[in-house]
Amino acid sequence: MTKPVVDTDDDLDTRARNRSLWSQVNADFTDTDAQQMWTRSGVSWGLFRQPEGSLQLLGDLTGSDVLEIGCGTAYLSAWLTRAGARVVALDLSPEQLVTAQRCQDRFGPHFPLVEGDGATLPFRNGSFDLVVSEYGASPWCDPARWPLEAARVLRPGGRLVFLTNSVLAAMCVPAEGGPAGTTLLRGATDVNPVSWPGGGVEYHPGHGEWIRRLAEAGLVVDALHELEPPDKGPDHEYYEIVTRRWSERWPAEDVWVAHRPRVVRSR
Ligand SMILES: C[S@@+](CC[C@H](N)C(=O)[O-])C[C@H]1O[C@@H](n2cnc3c(N)ncnc32)[C@H](O)[C@@H]1O
Repeated sequence: MTKPVVDTDDDLDTRARNRSLWSQVNADFTDTDAQQMWTRSGVSWGLFRQPEGSLQLLGDLTGSDVLEIGCGTAYLSAWLTRAGARVVALDLSPEQLVTAQRCQDRFGPHFPLVEGDGATLPFRNGSFDLVVSEYGASPWCDPARWPLEAARVLRPGGRLVFLTNSVLAAMCVPAEGGPAGTTLLRGATDVNPVSWPGGGVEYHPGHGEWIRRLAEAGLVVDALHELEPPDKGPDHEYYEIVTRRWSERWPAEDVWVAHRPRVVRSR
């Protein structure tokens, strides 16, 4: 039997801080922002919205059971539902889920929205064919915990696909806000986790640690895609974290793809 994981005081504090941060972010988020994302056609990835058609990360979604961890306003779940998946969207923040619910009611489609923590998923073993996280659990949840949970709820052969900031971007972002510069402002161990002043707690493990955490969860790594901006496009800051120019020079966003093997071989 697996031992139940017990939250430490640090886990409880991190969760409370991140819940409060996302309640605040949600209050600043306008319905125009939400509408823009909810009404986009097709699935795309990252700050520069690279089409799923060119990256081919998800495979055929028709009839598959999908869980999104840290769905926020749940636009990714809406896109996946339109692509034929049966989606459940989970988030820590009740406020974000209220926004997601409002978007469902205005734009459709509807799918279950669940309040919960990515580190202790309220689902049975082997419930999903695909677990996704787009800047959800990936930076906001402890990498020692949430991949274990993602692996547990995946069926054999199921896949985990998640998008997060590169560790390099996290090391170059000024603490006071604004996009990453060209100087390393903190070390690799300072960003895993990093507690932003007046903000939340984020986790940015290096690639070696991601590989180890995924392997510990019993997953096989299939690919790491370091997203690059497309050749053409506006030269402005899409998001606070990096400019287009920065991400043309250095990897700013990573997408990891892993799967749960059908047969576990003993050594
Ligand atoms: C950047 S949003 C990502 C969601 C969506 N892809 C988006 O861009 O709107 C991060 C989300 O992760 C959620 N989150 C933070 N910690 C979490 C946790 N421990 N478990 C589940 N969700 C969490 C936050 O509440 C927030 O809605």
